[in-house]
This record gives sequence, structure tokens and C-alpha cells, in this order.
Amino acid sequence: MERLQKVLAQAGVASRRKAETLILEGKVKVNGVVIRELGTKVSKSDSVEVEGVELVKERNVYYLLYKPRGYISTVEDDKGRKTVLDLLPHVEERIFPVGRLDYDTSGVILLTNDGEFSYLMTHPKFKIHKTYVAKVKGIPNRELLKKLERGIELEDGMTAPAKVKMQSVDKKTGTAIVEITIHEGRNRQVRRMFDAIGCPVLKLKRESFGTLTTYGMNAGEARELTTHEVKQLRVLAETGKIGH
Ligand code: URA
Repeated sequence: MERLQKVLAQAGVASRRKAETLILEGKVKVNGVVIRELGTKVSKSDSVEVEGVELVKERNVYYLLYKPRGYISTVEDDKGRKTVLDLLPHVEERIFPVGRLDYDTSGVILLTNDGEFSYLMTHPKFKIHKTYVAKVKGIPNRELLKKLERGIELEDGMTAPAKVKMQSVDKKTGTAIVEITIHEGRNRQVRRMFDAIGCPVLKLKRESFGTLTTYGMNAGEARELTTHEVKQLRVLAETGKIGH
């Protein structure tokens, strides 16, 4: 459900401010009834008319982007940095990133114009697993890795249990490559978890998001998800299992 003025703005009818004026002037109908309340919420199945013309519904689109480092995962940046949308210039729909990856993090990020799908993918209650590969400074011992697995007290509370696997150790440089799977998506969570065990992250990549990986893609490339992949992710969020 979205606020009526947002739906009008997204459909390209008018700016949000102008859309509010149209509503107050009684020029907007929902399911054939004039609506003058600004807070009114509508769903995709509602028919919305402006001055007698029904809104054209934008089709839902879903993209997987292999985000390179050096891009911000927002729709706009007030500091003028490159955003993930710059990597999908041909997409006409109003897509936005599903969750965030830090400016310096690479890997899988989804983009869509489907708010409900985005909610399913990002709210921790749906437990969509995200696997990260981190190069860290220092070589965490077994006890420290167990700490990460059990949960770490961060300033915004305990982290949920994670899966952690040591991939390799480089004694010469005193660094390690560690794989960690989490289903929460707090701000800079993986970096903060490693900071908390005294092994700061030097490099971070999100290897997988639910059932999706960057396999076969180069950094900077994007592809549209298949209908099957979208369905699989929905089923994963709703049942915790991959499709039957
Ligand atoms: N955790 C982080 O610290 N950074 C990311 O970009 C994603 C998860």
C-alpha cells in the first residue's frame, strides 16, 4: 500500500506537491470514488483516475547488479558521487536499490520498482540470507569466529546468529579471508562485526543474496531477473524454503 500522492507522482502525473493539490481539488478518483484525503493509501489492484484518465500501471521489474566498489547505493547523491542507477541507464521504470551496500562494498545488489518485494527481501523477519566474503586485517582465531557466529553486541544491539567460515589465511601479510552469512541488514553490519573482534575489514564483497550470486558476471554488469528467480525469492521469504 502506498500513499495516493506518491502513486500519482510515481506514475509521472505531477510532483508530489502538485499531486496533493489535485487530490484536494477533488480531481482524483480511486475505484470510481472521489478521494480528497491526502493520507489515503492505495494498492496495486486499485484503479486510480486523474481528471477522468486512468493511470497506466508500471510493470514491475527486477534487476541484479554486480555492484563495483565506488558507487553509492541510493537513487541520488547530494555529493554528486556515482550511484548504482548510473549502471542501469537504459531502465525506464523508477527502480531503487533493495537495501544497501556501502560505497566500498562490491557484489550482488537487487533493484526494483516493487516496494512489497523489497520489503520481503530486506526485513530480517523473512530471513533472506546474504553471504559476504571479507578480507580482514589480522587472523581471527576459532574463539573469535565463534563469537561472530553466536552474535556480537553492537551499539544497536546483539546481532542474530551467523554462519562463519575461514576461507584462507595469509600469514605473511597477517590477513585472512572469511565468509560470513547473515540475514539482517543493519548499516555497515559486517564491518562493525569484524571491528568488534579486532579484525577490521579491508575489502568486502556480497557473494550471494538468497538464491542469487554474481556467478558469470563482471563488476558493473546488470541483468533482469527471470520470473522464476523472482518467484523463488518470494517463496524463500514466505516459507524459508526454496520452491516446491
Ligand atoms: N555489511 C557491511 O558492513 N557493508 C555492506 O556493504 C554490507 C553489509
